[in-house]
Amino acid sequence: MKDEILKVLMTTKEYVSGAGLSETLGVSRTAIWKAIHKLKDEGYEIEAVPNRGYRLLIETTNLVETAIRLHLSKASRFTTIKIYETVDSTNSEAKRLKVNKSMNEGLIIAKEQTAGKGRRGKNWTSAKDEGIWASLVLVPDIPPTIASMLTLIAGMSATMAIEDRTGLEVGIKWPNDLVISGKKVCGILTEMSTEADYINHVVVGIGINVNQTFFEEALKDVATSLKIELGREVNRVEILTTFLNHFETLYEKFLKIMDLSFMIDKYNSMCVNVDQELRIIEHGATKQATGIKVTDQGGLMVRNKEGNTEIIYAGDVSIRGINGYV
Ligand code: BTN
Repeated sequence: MKDEILKVLMTTKEYVSGAGLSETLGVSRTAIWKAIHKLKDEGYEIEAVPNRGYRLLIETTNLVETAIRLHLSKASRFTTIKIYETVDSTNSEAKRLKVNKSMNEGLIIAKEQTAGKGRRGKNWTSAKDEGIWASLVLVPDIPPTIASMLTLIAGMSATMAIEDRTGLEVGIKWPNDLVISGKKVCGILTEMSTEADYINHVVVGIGINVNQTFFEEALKDVATSLKIELGREVNRVEILTTFLNHFETLYEKFLKIMDLSFMIDKYNSMCVNVDQELRIIEHGATKQATGIKVTDQGGLMVRNKEGNTEIIYAGDVSIRGINGYV
């Protein structure tokens, strides 16, 4: 019922009387009043004026289900949404839910992670209510060999969402880091469970630094947040739902085409490694090369010191600029 009231308030944008709402929705005025209070608790600012009714002033910026659902496209595949106050890692929770057969596809969100995971065994700092810490649980009918492309699709979708909502210029550091002003603002960790020739499920975990104002010593030169870059608070609901809507559009195309050809030109135009001198770190050994482009299969094509081209795939490889992180 909360959702219904919210829809009316959002579409009307004017005062709506309690009597009118109770008649339209077929419930008592007390029930309407209670639901309005729940919405206020969720962070919506709603004005109540005697003889005129209720009016929505400001949408919530809290990651609450009502708000997320309202902004997701109508045909969204994320019908199951689970939001946790605190969890070790949304990726780990997603895997537990799959093992217990408690969900098919869906979205896991945490306000705080106590053991957020990054790539290659690193930690991912996930302070309470400061960022978007979420995992997309997918069961795609694709060969396991191409599932890693989902990381690039998620990266591209998050780039588009941040640019749409903030106007900031975002670069993609192949395969999955988003950078603003040379610092990391978002990371993606894709994990999957497969059999020899089919996928049980894929978990695409995404962390976006949204409203942090400072980072611990070890991160402060390499990490940034949208708030630091913009100088103002950013609405996490808007960023998350814009990301999910872009992701779903690209994902549907990917499921039909089964490579990245439909988006690769745009990806390359945003990729900071193209035409860059790079250090490629693999199993502790470092070699230098020049980035050429990301291929339709999601590999990074480089020219090595001998002048030959080769394609590298994410896995254990780590890429750096010759003078630092980017
Ligand atoms: C990286 O760049 O190293 C990947 C970072 C991925 C972080 C996200 S936050 C939500 C999800 N749950 C996790 O434990 N990790 C991912």
